[in-house]
Amino acid sequence: MEPIKLQTNIPSLKGAIAIPGDKSISHRSIMFGAIAEGKTEVTNFLMGEDCLSTIACFKKLGIDIQQQDEKIIIQGKGFDGLQEPKEILDVGNSGTTIRLLMGILAGQSFHSVLIGDESIGKRPMTRVTKPLKSMGAVIQGRNNGEYTPISIAGGSINGMEYELPMASAQVKSSILFAGMQANGTTTIIEPQKTRDHTERMIRKFGGEIEVDQRHISIKGGQKLKGTTVNVPGDISSAAFFLAAGVIVPDSEITLKNVGLNPTRTGIIDVLQDMGADLTIIPQADDSFEPSGDIIVKTSNLKGITIEGDLIPRLIDEIPVIALLATQAEGKTIIKDAEELKVKETNRIDTVVDELRKLGADIEATNDGMIINGRSQLSGGTVSSHGDHRIGMMLAIAAAICKEDVYLEKEESIRISYPAFFDHLKGLSK
Ligand code: S3P
Repeated sequence: MEPIKLQTNIPSLKGAIAIPGDKSISHRSIMFGAIAEGKTEVTNFLMGEDCLSTIACFKKLGIDIQQQDEKIIIQGKGFDGLQEPKEILDVGNSGTTIRLLMGILAGQSFHSVLIGDESIGKRPMTRVTKPLKSMGAVIQGRNNGEYTPISIAGGSINGMEYELPMASAQVKSSILFAGMQANGTTTIIEPQKTRDHTERMIRKFGGEIEVDQRHISIKGGQKLKGTTVNVPGDISSAAFFLAAGVIVPDSEITLKNVGLNPTRTGIIDVLQDMGADLTIIPQADDSFEPSGDIIVKTSNLKGITIEGDLIPRLIDEIPVIALLATQAEGKTIIKDAEELKVKETNRIDTVVDELRKLGADIEATNDGMIINGRSQLSGGTVSSHGDHRIGMMLAIAAAICKEDVYLEKEESIRISYPAFFDHLKGLSK
């Protein structure tokens, strides 16, 4: 595909957009809908390519999933109702699909094979295959279970106590799916709190789970019941427009229906610490997943240090935070973020390389990056490297570039935000 010319030098952003559904919650709504008994109706489901990969995998596992108007309807069959797939399960670019699906398949006595795209083929899977194997699942993969293609045959698995070696909601969720099907109780201890959408959904679907700070326990043999799920907007998608509203001159934009789950709102804390002008209007209480509208205005930013327990609460927002830091007065340090190296791309390298091409003063460190601001960004040809969040960050960077900017591999943006360019265009004044 040819590089596309991005909109540059945008004079101002004004107006309102409805943020599309949360990717993490959309994936889980399909998974829980499938393993619950009876019908589940999902509204504001994210029609991004990653979530469509999850739907395709569950269809191959014998689940009827239909789109009716604005809703996705899943006819759940319970854990016992999944069928051995006749074809390979292809997760595309989606790490969440493959890792969570392995937890579900660990409790199934049949055989499945999982593959994904080139990026998935490089992402570590031992973090999931190792605990699932110790519960009793039989899993094989390239390089001793580290990489796809992966084959899995589960069956009778046993609960365990497991201390997670890294802060990962994907690993936690995978073990929880296995734990729901295991003999006895499974307890997970997290090094740091990570997004808790799986825990919330277990309760929403009538299951039981005990959470005490970083200790999470689940009993095996649970049955879930179909329900309705209204997916809030994805704060990780909103983050690009939060950043745009702050750094593009003379801007005021309203982001409607943004998910405000406290395990995901690190970006709001960071923006406020940097001095951004944000107004948050919470929606009427929703104990399932909180949400609200956010109004953002052009602001003067200052550099800060981002580290520790904050990192899992904003892990997907670090590319766009790096861009914000180029426009902040002084130094921004991001540390404790080694996990960035095993995302859709090595996001320490891709962020540093691509922002440098536009003239940013940014250097990679072992566990993050250091950015000196403010820099006037210039122009050039940049690449998403097939990573949706790098592509969107660069499109927002282009908005404040003085010269032409071309983006290679823009199609990756369809992974999580198909309407991204329409929204950017609609707000540009
Ligand atoms: C996700 C968890 C995070 C995040 C990913 C989605 C999830 O990954 O980066 O985009 O839906 O559970 P890790 O849990 O591996 O950090």
